[in-house]
Amino acid sequence: MPDTFYITTPIYYPSDYLHIGHSYCTVAADALARFKKLTGHDVFFLTGLDEHGQKIAEKAAQHGKDPQSHVDAIAARTTELWRMMDVDYDDFIRTTEPRHERAVQKIYERLLATGDLYKSEYEGLYCTPCEAFWTPTQAKDGLCPDCGRPVHPEKEESYFLRLSKYQDWLIEYIGAHPDFIQPRARANEMLSFLRGGLNDLCVSRTSFSWGIKLPFDPKHIAYVWIDALSNYITALGYASDDDRLYRKYWPANVHLVGKEIVRFHAVYWPIMLKMLDIPIPRQIFGHGWLIIDGRKMSKSLGNIIDPAELCARYGSDAVRHFLMREVPFGADGNYTHAALLTRMNADLSNDLGNLVSRATAMIAQYFGGILPAPDIKTELEDALEASLLALPGEVETAMDSLQFSSALASIWRVIGECNKYIDQTTPWLLAKDPSKRGRLATVLYYLAEAARFAAILISPFMPRTPKRIYDQLGITEPDLMDWASLKSLSDRTAGHTVTKGEALFPRIDIKKELAELAAPAAKAEPEPVPAEPLRQDTQPATITIDDFAKIKLVAAKTLAAERVPKSDKLLKLTLDDGAGERTVLSGIAQWYAPEDVVGKTVALLANLAPRKMRGVVSEGMILAASDDKGGLKLVTLDGDMPAGSEIG
Ligand code: ME8
Repeated sequence: MPDTFYITTPIYYPSDYLHIGHSYCTVAADALARFKKLTGHDVFFLTGLDEHGQKIAEKAAQHGKDPQSHVDAIAARTTELWRMMDVDYDDFIRTTEPRHERAVQKIYERLLATGDLYKSEYEGLYCTPCEAFWTPTQAKDGLCPDCGRPVHPEKEESYFLRLSKYQDWLIEYIGAHPDFIQPRARANEMLSFLRGGLNDLCVSRTSFSWGIKLPFDPKHIAYVWIDALSNYITALGYASDDDRLYRKYWPANVHLVGKEIVRFHAVYWPIMLKMLDIPIPRQIFGHGWLIIDGRKMSKSLGNIIDPAELCARYGSDAVRHFLMREVPFGADGNYTHAALLTRMNADLSNDLGNLVSRATAMIAQYFGGILPAPDIKTELEDALEASLLALPGEVETAMDSLQFSSALASIWRVIGECNKYIDQTTPWLLAKDPSKRGRLATVLYYLAEAARFAAILISPFMPRTPKRIYDQLGITEPDLMDWASLKSLSDRTAGHTVTKGEALFPRIDIKKELAELAAPAAKAEPEPVPAEPLRQDTQPATITIDDFAKIKLVAAKTLAAERVPKSDKLLKLTLDDGAGERTVLSGIAQWYAPEDVVGKTVALLANLAPRKMRGVVSEGMILAASDDKGGLKLVTLDGDMPAGSEIG
């Protein structure tokens, strides 16, 4: 029997259409679910919507709708978005479904029976127009923080959960299970929250009606967080006539949640489960936020990024790759269109696209499209084979710790090795010499196998691209697309008919694209965004080799140079980076005349996000050394390095 793996996303509030921040978590869950399926697990992947509560009722009223038709409209758009983004969930739960409502009522009954749910009075400062209770700190000067009108002390009859009773148990559990809350920093936050003392939690409301009625006291409705958290078990049939899924998949392997809702999942939820005598989930992973120019996305700031629009424009695989590759899961990261486009050009058009197009074109040209069997091997093949065979293990380790960006970095490191292997083995020269036919066969076979490995390994992240690669490689056999086939290079691929298809990801003219996105009709950011490095929670004093691997340095040939009008510092350079021409602005005009740099092979930071200066978009940076006396010298390459050669 395969191991089961149960993974969930938060259930999102359908107050508005979902944005790219919601897609971020859902795509991560989908990638992990797909990866676990690929590695032989029996996976259940749950997502859905959190449809009750005052906030939703108010939003519906603003749109002149009843709450149910408001959430129905958003639910339809949400499932459409997930279809578009290839989110392959096993169930989509909506908390207004009868199956969920019935089970939540049973959960409240069971909690009441344990004695951990009790009726008491809620005392606080009440604002009558807002129907809201506030604490003295919230209601400064006795005024409601929402409407500014005076509040008064009031008592309301409510149900409470006896959280305080389980505080010590949870502190001990978190201490003894370091993987329970990840990343580690979030566990420490929870421990200090718990050590501050837990108050019993008020878990019923009487001030509005858009929620689940408590069966034993119907003027009370369930607190929206208890209602929502329960989805993780009600979707599996807990407390229903058919609880087979619950018995099979619970406890969840991982709940993926945003960092601001870790407390609900890592404190209230486990205590609630403990009260019900249900095992608690194995892990809560709190991821960071996607930020727009340093600010959280919000309707009022007008900086919402619509994932459907991006997918329609660039394809869901490109968007999914960007979301998973750009930001280490757990840290915050800045979203910019420029970063997305740069990533697409660098990783997808150049690295992956080049590998597949060069391999298939050469097999077509030199072997009439029939993949040859390998013949004469050298240490270059040994090294490439070793990298390929080590890769699945590396990817699995990264995925098991939810380090999606590291998994992708490893895959792309090997894709980079393959492109380097092409430059080292120079198949176009081997093809000129009939005595080297055996060598040529070996090189092309290794490249085709590397492309097959890449297709399998990227499949959890980019579900559509592998088929396009298999089609070009002529692979139709399912067992040449599965995880087990990564144990060795195959002796069955030789003889396949290979065809050079269309470019997987045509290169984008970033300058033009940013201008189009900036046009009002494109509903994008008002201005092309300047490059901004990813923000991480902490800035390490030293970097790891993985950090260094993020930097793409290549040799670039300076084809042309000119002064930038009205600037005494900038030269505008036209560089050949091996894949094409690009424009780079460089602040070297005081040290170099344009004619001094033309013809030089310089070191180019190729994956720096584009940045607009003096009306020109600069697509990268060239390296120079400066001394403390104001001198500056360009870093240039010795000899005749071909443009595009990797530096590192
Ligand atoms: O909290 N970047 O729903 P929600 C990354 N219904 N993640 C983001 C984000 C961004 N810019 N914006 C939002 C709720 N999110 C509850 C959950 S679960 C039992 C109930 C993430 O729609 C956010 O971090 O307000 C959170 O994890 C999720 O979207 C849902 O937010």
